[in-house]
Amino acid sequence: MKQVFIETYGCQMNVYDTELIKTILSKHHYDFVKDVNEADVVMLNTCSVRENANRKVYNRIHEIRNARPNKHIKIGVLGCMATNFRKALLENPKLGIDFIAGPDSYKHLPNLIAEVAETSEKSFHVTLSEFETYSDVLPTRREGVNAWIAIMRGCNNVCTFCVVPFTRGRERSRSPENIIDEVKRLVSEGFTQVTLLGQNVNSYNSDSSDFADLMARVSDVPGIQRIRFTSPHPKDFPRKLLNVISERDNICKQVHLPLQAGNTRVLDMMNRTYSQSEFLDLAAEIRETIPNVALSTDIIVGFPTETAEEFEDTVTVVKEVRFESAFIFKYSERPKTIAQRKFKDDVSEADKKSRIIRLNDIQKHISIEKNRAQIGRVQEVLIEELNTKRSDYEMQTRNDHNTIVIVPRTHHQIGDYIQVKITDATPNVLKGSILS
Ligand code: 5AD
Ligand code: SF4
Repeated sequence: MKQVFIETYGCQMNVYDTELIKTILSKHHYDFVKDVNEADVVMLNTCSVRENANRKVYNRIHEIRNARPNKHIKIGVLGCMATNFRKALLENPKLGIDFIAGPDSYKHLPNLIAEVAETSEKSFHVTLSEFETYSDVLPTRREGVNAWIAIMRGCNNVCTFCVVPFTRGRERSRSPENIIDEVKRLVSEGFTQVTLLGQNVNSYNSDSSDFADLMARVSDVPGIQRIRFTSPHPKDFPRKLLNVISERDNICKQVHLPLQAGNTRVLDMMNRTYSQSEFLDLAAEIRETIPNVALSTDIIVGFPTETAEEFEDTVTVVKEVRFESAFIFKYSERPKTIAQRKFKDDVSEADKKSRIIRLNDIQKHISIEKNRAQIGRVQEVLIEELNTKRSDYEMQTRNDHNTIVIVPRTHHQIGDYIQVKITDATPNVLKGSILS
């Protein structure tokens, strides 16, 4: 029981957690294999944010079981589904799940796996912790030019639609010293870009350091060229933070600002703690304080009781803020959440569908206009891949705004920064020619 295969679903925090899990299990002499068919232990690090995230995992478990019906493999479910669906997962005989570990339980994994291997009894650990930050575990980073660093975990907001407070527990932050040590080590390993992660990243607070203080300290680490962060809440964007982002060249001019809905009554029902006008004021303040900033957002359409007119307020905000990009979702009722307990999921599937199509269409036009406006501009990009999905003669790079820029392949290497001139644009991707 020493060959492990792990697959990751959901957000970047899960990607990071998989890196932590690799370190924890490697210390106990487990090997990670790339082919699921070579594994004795298969683990899925899951997401629970919307129903279709769950569905994907159920389908995948069936697929894995069916592919090797006679082989004695152990299957574990980790992450957000583990906390929320422990009973349903363990008690479903068709799934045949052997062990379960929640987001604060990964240090227990070696024991859990050993237990199921020896006794064939099912095992689980899903208790949420007020303290676990994994600050003593170095993630196993193998690929890519970006290093994720979780600076805080959990979430104390109670957005009524969201399952995360139930799956990941209360907020806790790592000490600034511990984070800075990790950033320095990353630089010594050759990383120049870090992305600070947290379920509510800008509510970071530790040893009288707030998020703006931490960003300034990370920015001061010699060798760090790009700093990004995700995912923030609009309630935690004081002027001090906007100034730090604006003043520091190595903090990317890219801010994710989740709107969720444009109507104040719906925002109240979501418990987002801002009104439409407060959101618009904040977006305007960010654009003013950080020139040439790219704003992205998350939107939910069809929240309980949202009327057609109220949805128009979301359209209004999207048109007014002109986000560079947006992730738009249909409301999906989640177990345990306040919305599930208090409100009826009463917007029809057809209405949710037409609202998402309409909003995606509007956003697509804004994104293409914004991207076309970049044509002719010179930008610094970081090379991520020496080929693209379509061609071996083109490289994939990213600009400061986090937009993909495709350029012709040259002698340059992954991790190099180069100057390019933008020559073409689609809603999500730019093309460029290389200047240096
Ligand atoms: N239904 C639909 N979308 C959701 N999100 C979170 N919870 C739900 C839900 N119940 C979206 C929010 C959040 C993003 C990560 O997922 O827009 O910002
Ligand atoms: Fe999914 Fe949210 Fe959990 Fe990330 S924190 S894996 S998005 S439910």
